Amino acid sequence: MIIKSLELADFRNYENLKIEFSSGTNILYGDNAQGKTNILEAIYLAATTKSHKGSKDKEIISFGKEEGHIRTIIERDGAEYRVDMHLRKSKSKGIAIDGQKIRKASDLVGRCNVVFFSPEDLSIIKDGPAERRRFMDMELCQLDQIYLENLAKYNKLITERNKVLKDMFEHPENSVLLDVQDKQLLEYGSVIIRSREKFIRDLCDIVDPIHHKLTGGREKLKIYYEPNITAAEFESKLRNSRQKDIYLKQTTVGPHKDDFSFNVTTENMPEEIDIRKYGSQGQQRTASLSLKLSEIEIVKKSKKENPVLLLDDVLSELDSNRQNYLLNTIGDIQTIITCTGLDEFVNNRFEINKVFRVVNGSIPEE
Ligand SMILES: Nc1ncnc2c1ncn2[C@@H]1O[C@H](COP(=O)(O)OP(=O)(O)OP(=O)(O)O)[C@@H](O)[C@H]1O
Ligand SMILES: [Mg+2]
Repeated sequence: MIIKSLELADFRNYENLKIEFSSGTNILYGDNAQGKTNILEAIYLAATTKSHKGSKDKEIISFGKEEGHIRTIIERDGAEYRVDMHLRKSKSKGIAIDGQKIRKASDLVGRCNVVFFSPEDLSIIKDGPAERRRFMDMELCQLDQIYLENLAKYNKLITERNKVLKDMFEHPENSVLLDVQDKQLLEYGSVIIRSREKFIRDLCDIVDPIHHKLTGGREKLKIYYEPNITAAEFESKLRNSRQKDIYLKQTTVGPHKDDFSFNVTTENMPEEIDIRKYGSQGQQRTASLSLKLSEIEIVKKSKKENPVLLLDDVLSELDSNRQNYLLNTIGDIQTIITCTGLDEFVNNRFEINKVFRVVNGSIPEE
């Protein structure tokens, strides 16, 4: 699958832009704050309906404008289709595929798979559980529409339930509302837990050989899901924590508290160690890279299709061994790389197909 072109109107610092990508490696370079990441954000948004950094539509539309547009032409299995996205300040976004409006944003998801890699991803193991859940959700939402819908409903319910909990002292009669919400939480939450279980199991199989190679055969890596509660115990735990939830004014059990762990063994250390707590910085960064590379494999495996790889300023963060490893795994995947200068590519043997210089919200002809 490839993205053939991207058109923007009143998107971030772009008034108007049209860009045609190569199906191979594309480089976007330019000084800071010129709009390189904004282009990757537009692609991510067109594929997943969401910003990679969680920005709201109204923040993405150019300052002072009421609406913005993104148009992408995507080629998949030899056929082309056009995705139009209409961002509006005070309404939800409109999306059309080949001119046909789609009913729900989730109907778009999964048609175009992208893997977004930024320097922050290298600290996913060092960071807190929220960042790891975000990783899991960003990936699962692209792969599984049912997951996406359940997660959206679950998150909305948690917000609503917390609101009811906050008012409980003044409105004890609202406990019937909690009963209704808990039933729904169980329904959506159980789907989330089961999907995450499977995702982490698949991920664990894929990540180990990648990590083994990346560490020159020194380390084995295992990833385990750490659910806050299992699907089977969700109901009883939710019921038993009701008083505590009322007291703390928030929902304390459920998959919104999940995490997963990274465990390494070496020849010298055959006992698994949890590198979230005991890993060295380098070890954590390498395992994070293994995780991102696994994402590519997961898409290939489950979609039988190459994802589009978006590398935001990430090459300069890696030493030359890891850079080479990453660039070698790219193979025939369409890749869009942002960087501030072209120097970092001089010593690399890999082929660059198209180079764009980004200057203050435009790409001048050179
Ligand atoms: N809604 C918006 N409307 C207009 N401009 C915006 C909007 N949101 C962000 N910008 C501007 O976009 C500019 C470029 O952002 P971007 O993150 O793409 O830069 P970059 O080229 O990736 O820079 P860096 O090399 O520092 O990562 C910023 O200076 C910011 O002020
Ligand atoms: Mg940037």
